[in-house]
Amino acid sequence: MLTASEIKDKFIKYFVDKDHKHLPSSSLVPHNDPSVLLTTAGMLQFKPIMFGLEAAEYKRVTTYQKCCRTTDLDNVGKTPRHHTFFEMLGNFSFGDYYKREIISWAWDFLTKELNIPTEKLSVTVHHKDQEAYDIWHEEMGIPKARIVKLDDKDNFWAAGETGPCGYCSEIYYDTGLENGDGSPDEKAGSESNRFLEVWNLVFMEFNKQEDGRLIPLPAKNIDTGMGLERITSVLQNVANNYEIDSFKQIITKIEEISGKKYGENTNNDLYFKIIADHIRATTYLIADGVKPGNMSREYVLRRIMRRAVRYGRLLEINGTFLHDLLPIVIDLGKDYYPELLEKKEQILKTVTQEEELFNRTLNNGLKILNKIIDTHKTSKEDKISGKDAFELYDTYGFPLELTVEIAEENNLHVDHEQYQIEMKKQVNRAREAHNSSSLNDVAMHMNLDNIPATDFTGYDEYKTHAKVLAVSFSLDKKEFAFVVDKTCAYAESGGQVSDKGEVTFNDKTFKLKNVQKVGDYFVHVIESDKAIFDKDAQIIISVEFSERVNTARHHSVTHLLHQALKDILGDHVKQAGSLVNEQISRFDFAHPNALTNDEISKIEELVNIKILENMPVTTNVMDIDQAKKSGAVAMFGEKYGSKVRVLTMGDFSKEFCGGTHVNRTGDIGSFRIIGEEAIAAGVRRLTSVAGLSAYRYMKEEENIINSLTTKFKVPAKDILTRVEKMQLNINDLERDYSNLKTTVALGQVKELTKKVKEVNGIKFISEKVDIQDMKALKSASEDLLNRLDSGVIVLGSIIDHKVNFVASVSKDLVKKGISAGNIIKSIGQTTGSKGGGKPDSAQAGGGTEVDKIEIALAQVESLIIV
Ligand code: SER
Repeated sequence: MLTASEIKDKFIKYFVDKDHKHLPSSSLVPHNDPSVLLTTAGMLQFKPIMFGLEAAEYKRVTTYQKCCRTTDLDNVGKTPRHHTFFEMLGNFSFGDYYKREIISWAWDFLTKELNIPTEKLSVTVHHKDQEAYDIWHEEMGIPKARIVKLDDKDNFWAAGETGPCGYCSEIYYDTGLENGDGSPDEKAGSESNRFLEVWNLVFMEFNKQEDGRLIPLPAKNIDTGMGLERITSVLQNVANNYEIDSFKQIITKIEEISGKKYGENTNNDLYFKIIADHIRATTYLIADGVKPGNMSREYVLRRIMRRAVRYGRLLEINGTFLHDLLPIVIDLGKDYYPELLEKKEQILKTVTQEEELFNRTLNNGLKILNKIIDTHKTSKEDKISGKDAFELYDTYGFPLELTVEIAEENNLHVDHEQYQIEMKKQVNRAREAHNSSSLNDVAMHMNLDNIPATDFTGYDEYKTHAKVLAVSFSLDKKEFAFVVDKTCAYAESGGQVSDKGEVTFNDKTFKLKNVQKVGDYFVHVIESDKAIFDKDAQIIISVEFSERVNTARHHSVTHLLHQALKDILGDHVKQAGSLVNEQISRFDFAHPNALTNDEISKIEELVNIKILENMPVTTNVMDIDQAKKSGAVAMFGEKYGSKVRVLTMGDFSKEFCGGTHVNRTGDIGSFRIIGEEAIAAGVRRLTSVAGLSAYRYMKEEENIINSLTTKFKVPAKDILTRVEKMQLNINDLERDYSNLKTTVALGQVKELTKKVKEVNGIKFISEKVDIQDMKALKSASEDLLNRLDSGVIVLGSIIDHKVNFVASVSKDLVKKGISAGNIIKSIGQTTGSKGGGKPDSAQAGGGTEVDKIEIALAQVESLIIV
């Protein structure tokens, strides 16, 4: 029986033997493609080639691609086939072979290489695609009964709302009559589970526009995708994807941790599957640099991880467990995805931290749910509202099932319908947040066919005479965009912001607002409410010189900083992101702890020493393999072509970089680190300034010191001693003031003993006082109670414009059922003060109804009932 890995190897070998280049899987974080959150298909990394924006280095390509889809998250584990993370086997033709070849190869691979009996396979085609139909029937000899014609819904595949698309033909495996709707005539593409889609062959020939129009792509392409887990389940003859070899090991480990067995209880099986799926997605997403968070793909990861934890609880796993599953997932994938081993520590750490954090959140959620249950019991309401259930899900990460289960234990049920409405609202909100427009859209409306890649001249010049090759204009965004043959303006990339500058046309000058890379093109944007020039116009582009130089200083210093961090903190320091502009350099990197002042000083000094060594800064364009061999540092997750630019600073630093830099390190001037913070677990951010910004920063600090010397009338060196002395003085004063407050409070207490009243034979005091401190208020109340021996004391005071109460009840009265907590809760409602406590002592605060303090205190009498 073939293992999943063996199937993967066979697939790649089959297509490599047919002259395909085996390219690595791209990252789960799509590169330069704002239209998708995560990589959902093998073809995504090739979109620029299909659009004709990038030249295809290889015309035939094959990959196994990491994919993550979360649109059907709720189906994961419930159906035999849904996953968040899965692997897609694919082969691609960029303007090379087309339908005939791929149809015959796909058939050959399934029936000869994988030995699937031909009668178990059937196919679907688009009803308008007679060509594909004829190839299947006439050339491949598939009987008409096993070729099903379907419409757009099934046999038209698109990468998204817009972009590459085309008819497709799908190959189905017949799992047997017993899995179908009962009818022997049932066909592929039907609703039941009998026919399982294993391979999708897409004939990519159109580019779908926003208005729905289909424009032919520059070339006809092939994009195929076969889910590895599915085809493995067919060959291993198992009922669902979770029973294939690679999932089995994960499930076995979950059995070991939970002490439960897979296959004994349907509910538990579902939880097993969800955890097994989610731990894979978690591992691979973190390996590709995603961290759990509250936005965008970070939120996707957090949600997946939290679901895994919650389903662990449903399996009655106590404590953290996800990290115990990681070594298995890493081990299963490490030969195919080396990043899993490279990032192993990061993965373990991130998962452990997030799981611990979430366990605490979950416990808080439980408290909220218990409160809801209590209120329902008091009010005799037996339905928990959908809103409450959704909030528990959304804010505290409670799955509906968990809420339902706990509710049922308390004889309550949950309003599912309203829960779904809330969920839909949330999905719509998320969708809206996603539909952000991007520069790519503007570029997509340009005709970029057959125009050469933009030549960047900005490493050597600040002004370029250029010819316009394409234009586009968007009235709603009031933006005019264009592409030229060459430009000196840097397009945002590698953390460096785009250049700003000017564009001159026919003696008129316009402000250049932004430059962005789209494939091999630099798209320049001018803010304008009308189109300014047309294709073939001759223009002059110039960049803002001082801004460019200051940005270069910050970029160059970032490289020095990166190496200095490695030298001082250790080799584990890896860049996680950066931002470089004319004012600052911001550098994010993996490091477990906050940097100490001493470390910061050492790093700052080392960078300054390297600046003063005035080392030459040189660049070399070389083959990627040669560059890697030379020890140049590459940015993880970045997509590089076969040629890369390597930037060297003396013998100190060597990095892949396309940015603009100073000529010698001395040009940087000087360097200061001005901020250190954590931006995620295990990721630190250093903010620094160089050159003129550093000078200005130091000047500002000097000005502050000068003002202090003037204010304190001491020389700079004595400021610290002066401040310390003042601090001591303040401490003394605060102590005196606090004593004074207590004395005043006690003075009031004496007066209050005269205000004792009686109800039902019980002595009580309920008075407004002017004590400005909760602690003092409490001591006053206790002091009064001591004086009474037996009784009830309630004191109210307005502190910081808010109504506060304390209450004390003597032990003998507590035994008779009088409760300070109840009294406080009840009178607190009158003034909006919140709090509570024990029967003998309680307090409340924060009440805003200041005018009602006396009314509240007057209510006390009626609350003393025995
Ligand atoms: N892009 C197609 C899919 O994802 C085929 O690879 O199904």
